[in-house]
Amino acid sequence: MSRRLPGPRGLRWLRACWALKRDPYLGVHRLIAKHGDLFRLRLGRSSEVIVVSAPELAEEVLLRQASSFRRSSSYRELRSLLGDGLLSAEGERWRTHRRLIQPAFQRGAAEALGPLIEGRVAAATTKWGARGGLNVQQALLELTLEIAVSALLGIEATPAELRELLNAMMVPMGIRPTDSRRWLPWVRVDGRAEAAATLRRLAAIFIRRRLELGAQGADLLGQLLGAEEAGALTREDVVDEVLNFLAAGHETSAYALTWTLYLVAQRPELQERLVVDEGELTQRVLQESMRLYPPVWAIERETERSVELGGFEVPAGRTLVVSVSGIHRHASQWRTPEIFDPDRFLPAASKARHASAYLPFGRGRRQCIGEDLAFHEMRIVLEAVVRSFHLSLDESVPVVPKGGVTLRPRDGLWLRLRARG
Ligand code: HEM
Repeated sequence: MSRRLPGPRGLRWLRACWALKRDPYLGVHRLIAKHGDLFRLRLGRSSEVIVVSAPELAEEVLLRQASSFRRSSSYRELRSLLGDGLLSAEGERWRTHRRLIQPAFQRGAAEALGPLIEGRVAAATTKWGARGGLNVQQALLELTLEIAVSALLGIEATPAELRELLNAMMVPMGIRPTDSRRWLPWVRVDGRAEAAATLRRLAAIFIRRRLELGAQGADLLGQLLGAEEAGALTREDVVDEVLNFLAAGHETSAYALTWTLYLVAQRPELQERLVVDEGELTQRVLQESMRLYPPVWAIERETERSVELGGFEVPAGRTLVVSVSGIHRHASQWRTPEIFDPDRFLPAASKARHASAYLPFGRGRRQCIGEDLAFHEMRIVLEAVVRSFHLSLDESVPVVPKGGVTLRPRDGLWLRLRARG
């Protein structure tokens, strides 16, 4: 119980820090290969991170001993930009909000949004077809944000509002950490404060627009405004949740789809099978794509009290990272893990695995509330794209994974689209 966690020391420690700083995604995989399922890495004089990369240990953190863990500092940082919504909230506030919001995501809610999503996707694929070549990442971020606004808030945003929203959202998502004008020393711009103000202004506009249309509805904003009217939430709470959901609900789906199209574009034969598929193969392709490239590739927690993990004692106040991408390659669960193989998700194969061997949506009480909606939306997009186009990679831009808050292609993804006859 009192054994000290293993971890690199001396020169190996220095090398490990460099590897992580240069490329957190590849770096952590290299460290896992060297140090195994559970190790600690000192990051400075007083801080260290504990990396967890085995299914049974992840289950301890996210499910069995979940009450001993809280959100880490990365989630708390989100608060200054998105307010204190479901992503960062803790304790009673989180419990109350999750209970109030849950009905908007109950069984059947995603299906009910089908026609709305299909309409947006059809308009987007028509636009993409006219271009021939597609900046996939950008196009999907625009599409998923537009879908999130209309499906979750029940309103239309103007193209200018969507552009402004997308740009401001890049700050919490770590894509645009500060304002680009920062290099001009005489212009004092705090990119974060400016982004937060823009986000709150847009959320207030969207809420007013919805109130003009009528607050009632089973969708997210309908639930939130109903709770406000009943005195269970304040307007500030509603703004916080709107921003949390727009952030959580668009970028993850956009990157999952980006990686899926990257994999599918390299396999013309798979495209032909997907064109005639009734949904089952489409689902497995999405699952396998999120195994290889999980948009949320690392889930952070902090110990609230001392816990026992894998035979080691972890004191209170330590940061743990559950390496989702590491678990998705764990040798005990996945054979030839670097190979893309949707058959891994045939029912018999899935059943044979550990329940925490696959965690793209997390596990336990903080598991993603939007999983059903995400799958539904992604199926509609993937089906529409393969039925409209033959896809191939534009190989002039190499595709390199970059792990920030989410996992995305470092320099974007460019595809050639040829309309199907
Ligand atoms: C492919 C798409 C998506 C992926 C991979 C994904 C992944 C995740 C993961 C891993 C978590 C758990 C984080 C943790 O335990 O710390 C999470 C939480 C969350 N997700 Fe998703 N998500 C996706 C789509 C969505 C959508 C479409 C929505 C909303 C409509 C959404 C809303 C949320 C919210 C609000 C939370 C916080 C839940 C809580 O703590 O109670 N996500 N997501």
